[in-house]
Amino acid sequence: MAERFSLIERILNRIDRARRPPAGRARSRVVRRFHRLYYMTSRRTWRNTFFLGVPIAKCPLDLWVYQEIINEVRPDLIVETGTAHGGSALYMATLCDLVGRGRVVSVDIVARAGLPQHPRVNYVVGSSVAPETFEQVREQLRPGETVLVHAGGSGIGTTAIKMAKAIGCTVYTTVGSDESPAFAAHVL
Ligand SMILES: C[S@@+](CC[C@H](N)C(=O)[O-])C[C@H]1O[C@@H](n2cnc3c(N)ncnc32)[C@H](O)[C@@H]1O
Repeated sequence: MAERFSLIERILNRIDRARRPPAGRARSRVVRRFHRLYYMTSRRTWRNTFFLGVPIAKCPLDLWVYQEIINEVRPDLIVETGTAHGGSALYMATLCDLVGRGRVVSVDIVARAGLPQHPRVNYVVGSSVAPETFEQVREQLRPGETVLVHAGGSGIGTTAIKMAKAIGCTVYTTVGSDESPAFAAHVL
C-alpha cells in the first residue's frame, strides 16, 4: 500500500513539475502574447466588455484588481485619464458607493455625448498634457486627501501626482509594469 501511495505521489509530483509556471524570458513571452491576443481580438474582448451596460475598455482581471485597490486604499479622489464611454468611471464610482467614500475625475480629449452620470463622477474634457486640463484636475484636489492616480505615467498622471503631493495629499498610482522602473525614477 505504502509503495502504491508513493507511486501516486511520484506521478502527482511529476504533474506538478510539468505545470510549473514559465519563468524569465519564457514568462515574459507568455505575458506579451496574452496582451497581444487580448488586444487584437478586441471584438471579443475589450470592445465587448460592459459594466452595467456601459462599454468599459478593460480586462476584467484589471477591474478586479481596481476593486481590491479601492477597498484597500479608500481614496478620496481617483484621477483617470481616458474616459471613453465612461464605463470605468462608473465602475469606480460604484465601488466608491460600496465602500462609502471617494469621487472620480475622468479626463478625455474627446467630448462624448451620453456619458453615464453619477454623483461621484466629474468629467473633464481636454488633453491630458494641456495646462487648462491640469487646472481643472487641480480644482478637484483637497489638501490632505488620499488620491489614487490611474496611468501615473501619462501626462495628466505625472502632473496630478506632483500637484497632489505639492498640496500635501497621499498619492497612490497604477502604472504599466513596463513603465514602472522609469516611472519610479522620474516621478516618485
Ligand atoms: C482606452 S480608452 C479609455 C478607456 C476607459 N478608461 C474605459 O476603461 O472604458 C482611451 C481614451 O483616451 C482618450 N485620449 C487619448 N489621448 C488623450 C489625451 N492626450 N488626453 C486625454 N484623453 C486622451 C481617448 O479619447 C480615449 O477615449
